[in-house]
Amino acid sequence: MSVMNYFDYSATTPLSMSVNQLMQEVETSYFANINAKHDFGVRSKAFVQSYIDTMAKTLSIPVSSLIFTSGATESNNMILFGLAKSYPHKKHILTTSLEHHSMISPCGELQRQGYEIEFIPYTQGQLDLIALKNMIREDTLCVSVIAVESETGLLHPLKSIKAICDERQVPLHSDMTQAIGKIKVDFKDVTYASFSSHKIYGPKGIGACVLLKEDIKPLIYGGRSLSKLRAGTPPNALIVGFAQSCIEAIQNLEQRIHDVEQLRKYFVNECASIQQLHVNRPKNGVPHILNISLVKCDRHEVVRLLSLEHCYVSASSACSGQENVSKAVLTITQNMDYATSSIRISLSHLTTKDEITSLIKALKKVTL
Ligand SMILES: Cc1ncc(COP(=O)(O)O)c(C=O)c1O
Repeated sequence: MSVMNYFDYSATTPLSMSVNQLMQEVETSYFANINAKHDFGVRSKAFVQSYIDTMAKTLSIPVSSLIFTSGATESNNMILFGLAKSYPHKKHILTTSLEHHSMISPCGELQRQGYEIEFIPYTQGQLDLIALKNMIREDTLCVSVIAVESETGLLHPLKSIKAICDERQVPLHSDMTQAIGKIKVDFKDVTYASFSSHKIYGPKGIGACVLLKEDIKPLIYGGRSLSKLRAGTPPNALIVGFAQSCIEAIQNLEQRIHDVEQLRKYFVNECASIQQLHVNRPKNGVPHILNISLVKCDRHEVVRLLSLEHCYVSASSACSGQENVSKAVLTITQNMDYATSSIRISLSHLTTKDEITSLIKALKKVTL
């Protein structure tokens, strides 16, 4: 492969080598339908189940709360529409303006069906929890707050939000796709969570819901599966691969955070000489997402020029497309110049200092 300096780990990650090997073993030795009654089916089921059990134990959640889906998009949809089916008289949803499209779009669909969707406001870049308290109503179906905003790395205070929701007996859903395996997460802080395998060095095409309350109605009906919430033949290799990537991420979490923090400091120090460059750092942010603005530069053009230098960054989260203003950067900085010229650099424990040096060199070139 040609030279590649990849800084888009929040969009997706490469497959861990050990996960890749393990998945090949599953595809050759444990591929039987785990609902089959013959010995091969029983052995395959035991193998897959042992990984699911370890994954749940590593995440400190009950095994029964873990439901596999095709990814975080499906998990978010399953939770939102599944809850709406369970409580048809509750037509009010509270969320944030900084959710991923996989939450914003289903909320839009529910709005078209007559639901009232309200956004909890931000005050100086922080979610306004007093406003949240006052916005919860008798007919509030759920509060949904993304754990880590994907463009700036803004961390939402789930513990405090959950305390408010508990007081008013409203469930809290959180899209934890950019949090699990990247920072320490406590599932006591949510009622339901969503996450995805391909953000944590696992295979694409699988994700999960964590349902700590059993009140969601299924959206997919059919043949037997691992859970009555989602029918269909379970994908053995994807499940084992996802479980292993999750186990690796949690077991190595401290080291990975440490490595990424060092890289982040190195970048921030080294780029101090670039005058146009401003680091958009939320008050409470995660280490692996770095957001910068190159003031007066068009962010999509910067992404293109950096790409010509073999440095791969993104203008926003991959799913938000060609938007000219970053809502997330505007929320945390209240500065339109920063919001129209921001790019996201997402780091990994796989990132090297040499790659950062190449990126800084490329940034200097494009801002000349
Ligand atoms: C915060 C967040 N939620 C949901 C998703 C969607 O995940 P998936 O690709 O697994 O459907 C993403 C991926 O970009 C994300 O960053």
